[in-house]
Order: sequence, then C-alpha cells, then structure tokens
Amino acid sequence: MRGEIKTLNSSKRDFDKEATSWDSPPRVKLAVDISRAILGRIQLKPDMDILDFGCGTGLVTFPLGSLVHSVTGMDTSKGMLEVFEGKAQRKQVDNIKTLHLDLAKGDIVSGRYHVVISSMTLHHVKDTLALLKQFHLVLYPGGYIAIADLDEEGGRFHDHNDGVFHFGFDREKLCQLFVEAGFTSVSSMTAAEMNKPDAQGQERVFSVFLITGRK
Ligand SMILES: C[S@@+](CC[C@H](N)C(=O)[O-])C[C@H]1O[C@@H](n2cnc3c(N)ncnc32)[C@H](O)[C@@H]1O
Repeated sequence: MRGEIKTLNSSKRDFDKEATSWDSPPRVKLAVDISRAILGRIQLKPDMDILDFGCGTGLVTFPLGSLVHSVTGMDTSKGMLEVFEGKAQRKQVDNIKTLHLDLAKGDIVSGRYHVVISSMTLHHVKDTLALLKQFHLVLYPGGYIAIADLDEEGGRFHDHNDGVFHFGFDREKLCQLFVEAGFTSVSSMTAAEMNKPDAQGQERVFSVFLITGRK
C-alpha cells in the first residue's frame, strides 16, 4: 500500500540533528510516565549508581538523579550528550555524568551499577539479547534492570524507520530474553500510552511497556 512503512531500516538515524529540539511536550510527558513507572517498581536509594542507556537529553535521567548517588547517561549521539550536559550545568547537578559509546564499533557497556534503565532505545539496537547480557554483566549482584519501550507497533510509530531494528516488542518474548540473559523476577507492565499520528497521519495510540528484573 502506498506510503505504508513496513521495512526495518538499519541506516543510521541522525539523533545529533534532533537533539536541540528533542524535548517536545509529548516526549516530556512520556518520560514523566516512564520515570513514575520505574519509581513504582524500584525503590531508589541514595547510595545507588544508575546507568541510563540511550539517555538522550536526559528526560528520564534527571528526575531520578536527585534520588541516587550517581547517574551515568550513555548514548551514541554526541549531540544528545551535549544537550544533556548543558542541562546538568544549568541545573547545577553534579552527580550526573555522560559516556559516549557506539555498539556498532564494538564498544561495550562499561562501569558498575545498582540499576540499569533505558527508555525508548532498545528498538534501536539490533542484538537485544547481547545488550541484555551486557547490562547483566555491569550490574552488581541483586541489581535492578528497568527497560521501557514500545509494544509491537507494525512500523507505524516513527515517521521514518532509519535506525529502527525492531517495530516494538512482544512483551512475553522479550521477558524470555531477559531470563535468558540471566535476570530473575522478570515482569512487565504498561508504563505509558502515547497518542500521536502514525506515519500515514492517522491518529493512533501507542503503548509503552516497562520490563523489570533483578540480577
Ligand atoms: C528515542 S531516543 C530516547 C532518548 C531518551 N531515553 C528519552 O526517553 O527521551 C533514543 C536514544 O538512544 C540513542 N541510541 C540509539 N541507538 C543507540 C545505541 N546503539 N546505543 C546507545 N544509544 C543509542 C539515541 O542517540 C537517542 O538518544
């Protein structure tokens, strides 16, 4: 059908270009809903170190940062990280740092954390299981994982699918991958719903899950 986007596209999406205009009201609302869902599932403590993988401009990172010892924002986009760092300076937050990485170039997730979170980034990573295993490795024993992303969306969510490796996820199958990566107490919930026009301009509701687990 004309205009229907159904193919996955591994061409890189230019997040650098989008960084300065990223914080639109719908994205801010989505991040608030996801942060609240994370807080409902994980009791953050002042001695915890958190990794936010694919942190973008820090929409989810900053609300959680004030509750913990440190937050590391990790991202492939230097543009996103610059906006993130600018916010940290303006807010005079000193427990938040950034790390640039590119999995496609063989970089691996580094550091040691009590909690790993990620919001709306997993669908941009080709090998989901390999990444979940990396998260498992960098967590302390007993540490928590909390990943929010789209339920299956049939390629309708993004205006174009550059850099999209998954048209959302089947929750049950993804939970199984968490288990395969070594996580226990794996469970899922609906964290948010986002109303927006799809790639064809038709208004739709997209749901976002939060999957949590423990090492
Ligand atoms: C849809 S944005 C979400 C940003 C932020 N987490 C939020 O909720 O607003 C996806 C982010 O993941 C980053 N990203 C994409 N692929 C990545 C990868 N392979 N490794 C790390 N970050 C990646 C992008 O640069 C972008 O900042």
